[in-house]
Amino acid sequence: MLERKEILEVLSEYDLNKTTIGVLASHSALDVCDGAVEEGFKTHAVCEKGREKTYTEYFKAHRKDGKLIRGIVDSTDVYNKFNEILKTGNQEKLRDKNTIFIPNRSFTSYCSIDEIEDKFKVPMFGSRNLLRSEERGIERDYYWLLEKAGLPFPEKIEKPEDIDCLAMVKLPHAVKKLERGFFTAASYPEFKQKSEAFLKQGIITREALAEARIERYIIGPVFNLDMFYSPIEEEMSKIELLGIDWRFETSLDGHVRLPAPQQMTLNEKQITPEYTVCGHNSATLRESLLEDVFGLAEKYVKATQKFYKPGIIGPFCLQTCVDKDLNFYVYDVAPRVGGGTNVHVSVGHPYGNTLWRRPVSTGRRAAMEIRRAIRQDRVDEIVT
Ligand SMILES: Nc1ncnc2c1ncn2[C@@H]1O[C@H](COP(=O)(O)OP(=O)(O)O)[C@@H](O)[C@H]1O
Ligand SMILES: [Mg+2]
Repeated sequence: MLERKEILEVLSEYDLNKTTIGVLASHSALDVCDGAVEEGFKTHAVCEKGREKTYTEYFKAHRKDGKLIRGIVDSTDVYNKFNEILKTGNQEKLRDKNTIFIPNRSFTSYCSIDEIEDKFKVPMFGSRNLLRSEERGIERDYYWLLEKAGLPFPEKIEKPEDIDCLAMVKLPHAVKKLERGFFTAASYPEFKQKSEAFLKQGIITREALAEARIERYIIGPVFNLDMFYSPIEEEMSKIELLGIDWRFETSLDGHVRLPAPQQMTLNEKQITPEYTVCGHNSATLRESLLEDVFGLAEKYVKATQKFYKPGIIGPFCLQTCVDKDLNFYVYDVAPRVGGGTNVHVSVGHPYGNTLWRRPVSTGRRAAMEIRRAIRQDRVDEIVT
């Protein structure tokens, strides 16, 4: 792990009056760039060939005498593969632009986390050491942290033979490398039947199945809580709720739009839904549940400060289900900007806007924090 001190050395060479906000061009990059230009920063997106045009062309920034007329992305690098961002020379390009980099899930999926931890010598807004906690199955993953924090999460089912209620089986997809091969089962026979079908179709592998996380399925709506923690806030709450989103998942959302008689006609290949995220929507919570949300966030933040020093910095996302008795269960945690925050782009979100009295999305809030840290000469407290 790069020590913070090494990153602060890099930072000390920066001209912070010329800070660029950098991001891997995917996931939540548009929200990050939109927020950054709104707060007066230049933006830089690192793209992969074949999927670069969103940033190099369609949302490219056009400035006249420095004033932004249109678009949000000031400059780009286009590489054959995203992970070329890690090459020494390419990192140098980022440092030359005084880049503060905002990590997203594409960054940690397409680049090796080992290398991000040990070799990516660019100051990142957020907690470098927490990024790995997202990798389900490692020793100190987010489930471990949730347990330490005393947070509610779906009960683990130790082995398939023990399945006695609707359960979620979590494992990676065999072909779509970054996607899920999740399925549900309510009994051991159903587990066997579905896993055999998925194996036969090449959706999952035996090795992955043996390592799968099996947990109780929480029957209820999904709320992704887009939170923010500010280490440099002195007067007000350091924890903020910026927004709540939920996902469109394919093919699950297609299934739920079919009446039961049509569902019954689906063939073996169609019958079991997949959970590939392909969009997001915005949500709010009944007001009496909001305090529970802050309670969850308080506990999570405290646990990260204890077990992953210096603890969470900036955006994080608690992915939750709410059951029939209005209990929250955290089934996943993103220790970084959440994938659903694009629902806030440019218009902000009811909660972020309410708090800040102007349109504040997660991307904008990140830029506000960096701007404030620069003004107060406290950037060292928000980068790792
Ligand atoms: N225990 C659970 N009960 C009900 N639904 C779940 C549970 N765990 C996950 N899900 C569903 O599966 C989707 C993906 O789960 P998640 O754990 O976030 O995996 P990933 O981070 O790989 O996307 C969620 O959006 C949610 O709809
Ligand atoms: Mg998730």
